[in-house]
Amino acid sequence: MGLVDTHCHLQTDRFDEDRDEILARSREALDWLVVIGDTLASSEAGVALCGDGIYAAVGVHPYHPEEVIEAGLTKLRELAARPGVVAIGEIGLDYYKYNDAPPEAQQAAFRAQLELAVELDLPVVIHNRESEDDLSSILDEYHQSLPGGILHCFAGSDAYLERGLGWGFHISFAGNVTFPKAQELRDRAVDVPFDRLLIETDSPYLAPQPVRGKRCEPAYVRHTAETLAEVKGVSYDELVAQTAANAARLFRIPVEKSQAES
Ligand code: NI
Repeated sequence: MGLVDTHCHLQTDRFDEDRDEILARSREALDWLVVIGDTLASSEAGVALCGDGIYAAVGVHPYHPEEVIEAGLTKLRELAARPGVVAIGEIGLDYYKYNDAPPEAQQAAFRAQLELAVELDLPVVIHNRESEDDLSSILDEYHQSLPGGILHCFAGSDAYLERGLGWGFHISFAGNVTFPKAQELRDRAVDVPFDRLLIETDSPYLAPQPVRGKRCEPAYVRHTAETLAEVKGVSYDELVAQTAANAARLFRIPVEKSQAES
């Protein structure tokens, strides 16, 4: 089994000029990838890219709780029924100072989408920024009804990591784990059981160290895989095979299919 990217935003306008090239390079470098939604429109655009090794998650980011009204949920339900949709996300909470969506509105949108994931029996892709306490108490309520989840682009505390593992969730690391100053984050990765570890790019953001500052793309996930292989003390091939198997199991992507497509 080859590399997979469990989290990228290939539908954003930063790829408008050369998306076909990026898609071709991604297909060459990876077995498969998941395009993640953050608004209703980007969720729909992600679903439109599905097929031939491309899967999608649909959901509304905590920056846009105003989209998660009845009509928005109906739209997400419709999109989630399309072929290739494997998760609800990215959803969660974001209390960073530049986000002016009120916490109460974010929490309501988060809960509504968690309920949708329970209803549709889909795993969730979780975004957290400076909101560990509220996010954790909400997930304490829902995790048992969900078929799994991902703490995406993990950069949280030890306590949050422990809680996430307690929920049975997977922990996904992005390019920031390769940064020289990220030793603390690499130390956390040591504590993630190998069968719960995932890798992602979050492209176009967070290009790994060797390509830092560039627009990130899915093929760069190999740099994150190299770093995590060192951190876990396994070979690169082992790291790639294990993280791909973890992702396939969580997203229920048949391995035979992903191999045939590679
Ligand atoms: Ni993202």
